[in-house]
Amino acid sequence: TTVEWEAGSYDMGGHDTYMHKEICEQADAVDRVLRGRIDDRFATVRLGGLNMDAREARGVRRVKILGCGSAYHAGMIGAQMIEELARVPADAEPASEFRYRNPVVDPDTLYIAVSQSGETYDTLAAVQELRRKGARVLGVVNVVGSAIARETDGGVYVHAGPEVCVVSTKCFTNTAVAFALLALHLGRIRDLSVADGRRIVSGLRKLPEQISEILAQEEAIAKLAAEYADARSMMFVGRVRGYPVAREASLKLKEVSYIHAEAYPASELKHGPLALIEPAVPTVAVLPEDELLEKNRATLEEVRARGGRILAVAHAEQEKADHTIVVPRNEVELDPILMGIPLQLLAYHTALALGRDIDKPRNLAKSVTVE
Ligand code: G6P
Repeated sequence: TTVEWEAGSYDMGGHDTYMHKEICEQADAVDRVLRGRIDDRFATVRLGGLNMDAREARGVRRVKILGCGSAYHAGMIGAQMIEELARVPADAEPASEFRYRNPVVDPDTLYIAVSQSGETYDTLAAVQELRRKGARVLGVVNVVGSAIARETDGGVYVHAGPEVCVVSTKCFTNTAVAFALLALHLGRIRDLSVADGRRIVSGLRKLPEQISEILAQEEAIAKLAAEYADARSMMFVGRVRGYPVAREASLKLKEVSYIHAEAYPASELKHGPLALIEPAVPTVAVLPEDELLEKNRATLEEVRARGGRILAVAHAEQEKADHTIVVPRNEVELDPILMGIPLQLLAYHTALALGRDIDKPRNLAKSVTVE
């Protein structure tokens, strides 16, 4: 069985679709995930539900994050943040793959299950198998009291509020923020300095307003969507911080518009997918202003030389791109949180232009509670 979508169970609040409503709610949603958690004195955050003291947190040697769909992509962002801020090796893997491959379960690894619904069967099964083998498993979950929330040792609630549209938007963003909190918390227990802690705290506080600034560009993004809606396929690329954003944006476009899309690390383009580039296959490039910006600009040139149209998401107009969506600057570690938001609007308006059933795409369910 799948959890059925209940039309009308929540007020649409003047929006035509839940997807649009949920995209527009993100400044408030992020405000909620931050509320009451920032600890200015120690430049860290308090996460009451972790059930893990500082000594236990110091003992973590590795972090493994598990989830499906958008939750998996948010987990990829989380893994990068944890590695970067806490300097613990971390990676994300689809929960289904993990549970089918008889993984080595290591007592010093912290496992984290990510799920909006808290009911996805593959993720829950991974949690149950891990706990049976004695592992410590945390949940990063939206629905309070859901199966994954109950069956984990502790965790961080995402507080995105109810998400009705089958495709995830505000919960994805809030999950990425929840991971930033967890990474900051682990970092400050380990080697992250007070100064860096303060930098991240102040970056987190800026997020809601910056999200509103991005959402204010909706009209311009709708025009871009109309321009790219004729694409036969779309390529999404990014490097390191931009890559999980590209993955999620590609998934979002596929889910709601049915346009075929692929996501690649920008550096992998030349190892195959470059063969697909032509005017009918535009590229969306995610370009945070980090040490890889120049490399990313070179990728734009490669694409352009093959006659590909380019839409960039960056902090400043990109001359090598046909169009740029400009996103406000924050701390680079937090860029993945902001850079995904305009691409949710792009997917939404592309689907709208193509007349798709936005809140309930064909063949998909909000929560897959079977194998
Ligand atoms: C389904 C939905 C996706 C979602 C995934 C994981 O496939 O269509 O949008 O990302 O499940 O759901 P969860 O509730 O575990 O985050």
